[in-house]
Amino acid sequence: MALTEAEAANRLMRLAKEIARHNGLYHDNDAPEVSDAEYDALTRENAALEAQFPHLVRADSPSKLVGAPTTSALAKVTHARAMLSLDNAFADEEVAEFVARVRRFLNLAEDAPVALTAEPKIDGLSCSLRYENGVLVQAATRGDGAVGEDVTPNVRTIADIPERLTGIDIPQLFEIRGEVYMSKADFAALNARGEGERVFANPRNAAAGSLRQKDPGITRLRPLKFLAHGWGEASALPADSQYDVMRAIESWGLPVSNRLIRADSTAAILQHYRSIESARADLPFDIDGVVYKVDRLDWQARLGFVAKAPRWAIAHKFPAERAQTTLISIDIQVGRTGKLTPVARLEPVTVGGVVVTNATLHNKDEIARLGVRPGDRVSIQRAGDVIPQVLENLTPGVDRPAFVFPTTCPECQSDAVREEGEVDIRCTGGLICPAQRIERLKHFVSRGALDIEGLGDKTIVEFFGLGWLHSPADIFRLKTHRDELLTREGWKEKSVDNLLASIEAKRAPDPIKFLFGIGIRHVGAGTSKDLIRAFGSVERVAEVAQHEDAVAELSSVEGIGPVVAKALVDFFHEEHNRAAWDDLLGEVAPPPYVSNVKASAVTGKTIVFTGTLETMSRDEAKAQAEALGAKTAGSVSAKTDLVVAGPGAGSKLKKAAELGIEVIDEAGWAAIVTGTAA
Ligand code: IVH
Repeated sequence: MALTEAEAANRLMRLAKEIARHNGLYHDNDAPEVSDAEYDALTRENAALEAQFPHLVRADSPSKLVGAPTTSALAKVTHARAMLSLDNAFADEEVAEFVARVRRFLNLAEDAPVALTAEPKIDGLSCSLRYENGVLVQAATRGDGAVGEDVTPNVRTIADIPERLTGIDIPQLFEIRGEVYMSKADFAALNARGEGERVFANPRNAAAGSLRQKDPGITRLRPLKFLAHGWGEASALPADSQYDVMRAIESWGLPVSNRLIRADSTAAILQHYRSIESARADLPFDIDGVVYKVDRLDWQARLGFVAKAPRWAIAHKFPAERAQTTLISIDIQVGRTGKLTPVARLEPVTVGGVVVTNATLHNKDEIARLGVRPGDRVSIQRAGDVIPQVLENLTPGVDRPAFVFPTTCPECQSDAVREEGEVDIRCTGGLICPAQRIERLKHFVSRGALDIEGLGDKTIVEFFGLGWLHSPADIFRLKTHRDELLTREGWKEKSVDNLLASIEAKRAPDPIKFLFGIGIRHVGAGTSKDLIRAFGSVERVAEVAQHEDAVAELSSVEGIGPVVAKALVDFFHEEHNRAAWDDLLGEVAPPPYVSNVKASAVTGKTIVFTGTLETMSRDEAKAQAEALGAKTAGSVSAKTDLVVAGPGAGSKLKKAAELGIEVIDEAGWAAIVTGTAA
């Protein structure tokens, strides 16, 4: 039944009032008058009318509340203890190697028992719940591991998560960490209801979209669940093993997996893996592997972590899932560094519960190896979060012309060439290629780099098209376009102000993220960190890269090889890069690097470990030294400051004596580590 414009306006006005009233009853009074289904019907009617009469959308429209993934509206929370990720293992041998590595690190005998816990890896999003005096005071998402988002009111709507812990031995402060997820059945029902305009791709996206809402009233309508799998900051621990702490958390009232076990052998945990794998399809929620953790907490503490993952845990992932479909076409995408990547457009197909329409073909050689052509049937595979891949052409015998890989850039028509010794074909257009410029801008504002909220890919493309953005510095001059922006569709006073505020908030960006964000070839996040740590500031890196003997100087930094060194030199050699760099540093000022290592007697010193260490492995000793801001070296030289010698130390000890270098034993080292050295 079609409404006239006047009738529609009238109906929209009534819907706005009515939905607002139900919201109030629901959230403020906890006394809804209508069922969820009736409420949904109202919001859907509203959305349908707005779609039909876009010019009648009201300022107080309820659609402005529903489904808005208001990431920028959520406050930031700095985690007291970082939320780590996990290394992956796929084969049984990799699990055995993990256990062997743990033994080596702890200096245990090859056959020493190492108790491990094993439990399903839930495919949800991790969340940290902070309880003070047993009362829930804050809930935060993982975010980038260091800083997450405050989702406290949202989490309070999740029935699995108690407001108050109950039971005995509850520490004054305890952060419970675990996974917020949506069951497969609830996910299917939510999508069937078609709530909030968009259909979610999988239960994990649905859980994330539902948790990260500005309006907890929306979260409340979504059936979220929780399973605890660990903890963060704690004033005390109720036990000294992973397993027993998890049991205590369970006793305080939080759900813990009923498939959590503790076992003494690799064979036993692998058996548990097999049993979980065979139960997978029947479990009520999605899982993507099994997580093993070293049970003893004193060992966990010694093992510590590398980069972002603990040495004491690993995720044993299930094998990738496969499906067959038709290859419709092959598109060429141009990346940030000009790389031409062929992308397979596919007939939509479900793989492991996710609808897949694209897969990567990697490069020209891969297309030739697979012999795929548009029209072929192909098998594809998808593992976890990685982009699906084309595995095989199932119709190689069918007579069809081979795919011709372009020799010019599809975006700027410059030549596309293969550099010597490389597999990739690159556009030679550099900064005249709009695709490369846009990708560089996207990279600069992305999460791992400057992380400017509200400046998403679409917005970058929009501003680029308007001629407002040429290089990163222009981002910081966007405020000069404020008035024009306000006249554009989809931009309101509030969204414009939010965007400009989040840009202003990045005027003093983290130097490591800044350097990474510049997008110099071969300078990834890890390399950027090594460079900034070694040179102390972005300005120093640029200065050194322009020295006469820059390649040698840069390559002397640990972690920096000649390829990176040359890429840096090449970058700063280019006039236009230097101009863009100077322009940008006129807008922003990344502060010098501040080290977070513990200052100690050995900070800045070079240490050599020699002989047999009895209470720990070489790796552990090295990790301890690095945590105290010291460097380790393999041989004694005039640059050595300290030698830690165990029994059997030979020539190195002699050399140290000759050079007059201080020598201590393992007990002396332990005293430095614990801070009890005289
Ligand atoms: S332990 C320091 N246990 O997987 C250990 N994580 O890939 C970090 N996850 O961020 C987490 N189920 O969100 C752990 N049983 C489980 C898990 C689990 C799911 C998630 C978690 C973590 C991610 C790492």
